Amino acid sequence: MILVLGGAGYIGSHAVKILIESGESVVVVDNLETGHLASVNKKAIFYQVDIRDEEALTAVFEAHDIEAILHFSANSLVGESCENPLKYFENNVYGANVLLKVMRDHDVKKIIFSSTAAVYGEPKIVPITEESETLPTNPYGESKLMMEKMFKWSDAAHGIKFVSLRYFNVAGADKSGDIGEAHTVETHLIPLVLQVPLGKREAISIYGDDYPTKDGTCIRDYIHVIDLIHAHLLALNYLRAGNESNIFNLGSGSGFSVKEVIEVAEEVTGKPIKTLIAPRRSGDPSVLIASPEKAKAILKWEPKHTNVREIIEDAWRFHINKPNGY
Ligand code: UFG
Repeated sequence: MILVLGGAGYIGSHAVKILIESGESVVVVDNLETGHLASVNKKAIFYQVDIRDEEALTAVFEAHDIEAILHFSANSLVGESCENPLKYFENNVYGANVLLKVMRDHDVKKIIFSSTAAVYGEPKIVPITEESETLPTNPYGESKLMMEKMFKWSDAAHGIKFVSLRYFNVAGADKSGDIGEAHTVETHLIPLVLQVPLGKREAISIYGDDYPTKDGTCIRDYIHVIDLIHAHLLALNYLRAGNESNIFNLGSGSGFSVKEVIEVAEEVTGKPIKTLIAPRRSGDPSVLIASPEKAKAILKWEPKHTNVREIIEDAWRFHINKPNGY
């Protein structure tokens, strides 16, 4: 049995669907603070539990024979984390502490965990390898780095093997259009851009056009959520094969600017997208591009949907299908 924490969220709901399609039995735990029950595949067993609730989490571990955990439950808004850092240490870091305690007590030894490019902060060299310095510039990235260290020391003391996956910019949606990115508070570029052709937003603000990049706007490495989840399945098999704990970047290795994303979204939707130039958003690095070479070499990961047009087409299909979310 695989336990998916945060399985009602954007990325977690894709993981649940793909795990089930690949023949795994899945238990989902989600507090539904930001997730949607409707996005959880019906073949999964669902518990509305907060991972900080040790008693309730323990009951889930006692009801099921859990082999491995995929951990997606965390707060993940950079801006919010700067305004309310303690929320991030409470949910992400303390939540991981409770989880590790329950794992230790129930002899669960495998976990795949969502980390982030935000652990690197402002990169000195791109593409970013896993050996790059980790110097987060916001409490969100700091909380994820702290979690990585908690897993490392829990491996040393209790033999809990982990794979930490440092995500770059996750986007796109399942090809069915049934599940996708539907945050109540949306901050991510692609879903916000698509709100304009959906008629939900007048224009998209471009946060800064004076960066030292080819068109002056920030460059990001967009990774399709389907490719991202496939890396989790490979990481699960990597731990099942008895390998050591490890850390991998998950990105495509190529970068697209904010203006390029908007242009492709105009082509995909067939509608003009009005833009406004706004001031830079604080803490935004100008260029974030992953080196995915380590995941390719060790996990044998091959992202297949790296074309930003396909990523936007798949996101658009979901938003047309569910214009008001779940
Ligand atoms: N952007 C705009 N206008 C918007 C929204 C975003 O111009 O309305 C720009 C941002 O300034 C940035 C780019 O679009 O240059 C991408 O922004 P997102 O908010 O979509 O993504 P981020 O790169 O800020 O965030 C991602 C992950 C975070 C992670 C972070 C690490 O979503 O979880 O990378 O820096 F922490």
